[in-house]
Amino acid sequence: MNSADTVQDRIDELEAAEDRAAALLERTLLLAGRQAGRRLAPRLAGRTLRLAVAHQRSRTARPRTHRRHQLPGKGRTLIDKIQGFYGFTRMPFGRDMAPGMLHRHSSHAQAAARITWCIGERSLGVITGEVGAGKTVAIRAALDALDHPRHTVIYLPNPAVGVAGIHHAIVTALGGVPKPHRSTLIPQAADALATEHAERGRVPVLIIDEAHLLDHEQLEAVRMLTNHDMDSTSPLACLLIGQPTLRRKIKLGMLAALDQRIAIRYNMPPMTSEETPSHLAHHLALVGRSDTLFSDDAITLIHDTSRGYPRAVNNLAVQSLLSAYADNKSIVDEASARAAVAEVTAE
Ligand SMILES: Nc1ncnc2c1ncn2[C@@H]1O[C@H](COP(=O)(O)OP(=O)(O)OP(=O)(O)O)[C@@H](O)[C@H]1O
Ligand SMILES: [Mg+2]
Repeated sequence: MNSADTVQDRIDELEAAEDRAAALLERTLLLAGRQAGRRLAPRLAGRTLRLAVAHQRSRTARPRTHRRHQLPGKGRTLIDKIQGFYGFTRMPFGRDMAPGMLHRHSSHAQAAARITWCIGERSLGVITGEVGAGKTVAIRAALDALDHPRHTVIYLPNPAVGVAGIHHAIVTALGGVPKPHRSTLIPQAADALATEHAERGRVPVLIIDEAHLLDHEQLEAVRMLTNHDMDSTSPLACLLIGQPTLRRKIKLGMLAALDQRIAIRYNMPPMTSEETPSHLAHHLALVGRSDTLFSDDAITLIHDTSRGYPRAVNNLAVQSLLSAYADNKSIVDEASARAAVAEVTAE
């Protein structure tokens, strides 16, 4: 047996290991799909199937000689392979971005600036935006720029906790032990907020995310918390972050008193057709690709389909990338983006 045969045997061995790993991943995902319940299972299973098909296509699409150059090490995941193929330092379009790395498109910058102002003025602000518009990210960016020793942030990610839950969270975040009865818990929370400011010199910043889920009673409770010292000052800054229905809820309900207290309100628009390409380029540059990777047509299709909302843009960009990789393409072209759109919009 000559040395070429030995190398070929080794390659075959490694490729067999790769297939076994892919089959294992497939089985694990299918199992996860089943465990995730009836509603999710078909979707997960469908996705797994598509993943498997993509894997199979990528294996058959790439000529054998090319695959020798791309030969993965044992146990390399699909993500490793994509990174290697496109020369990424890590996968682009991820969610775990440090605040300094965020893309500063207009609505992000506007929202962050208003949140900062609202905190500085200890006032009440309402930031709204469609799903995936970047509301929570804007909050993160604004909080990161805060002078931390002078602020105590109380962040409620989910307001489905009733009125007591809000007061409970405030008392706990300020180091107290919440009293069991509502009649004593409400004044305890108000006192804790006032003390934090008056005695500790720190501004409590109450942030209620997904605030469109607040009910009337909770919104009234928020009004009462911001109504301090005969309404002359507020010890706290309060931000309500939610989907556009929040604005309507405040306007339509019997909440005129709360509505009048709102010092800033901002509805985050999506990215413009100039901002989406810049957002994509920004994400790609962060992982080491400053040259063209997405064709102009692909970007236009991604922008039009996502309407410029960052989460949808990112999801479509990842799907397009996967499609391009499966087809062994060095450029993410319109066909790849179209496949991604079909994938994302499929029932
Ligand atoms: N300025 C930005 N720079 C980079 N990526 C961003 C930016 N804003 C948003 N994103 C991306 O969009 C995703 C969605 O943003 P975010 O979670 O803030 O949306 P949201 O408006 O809070 O959505 P939801 O209504 O579902 O809570 C983020 O995980 C991130 O990947
Ligand atoms: Mg959010």
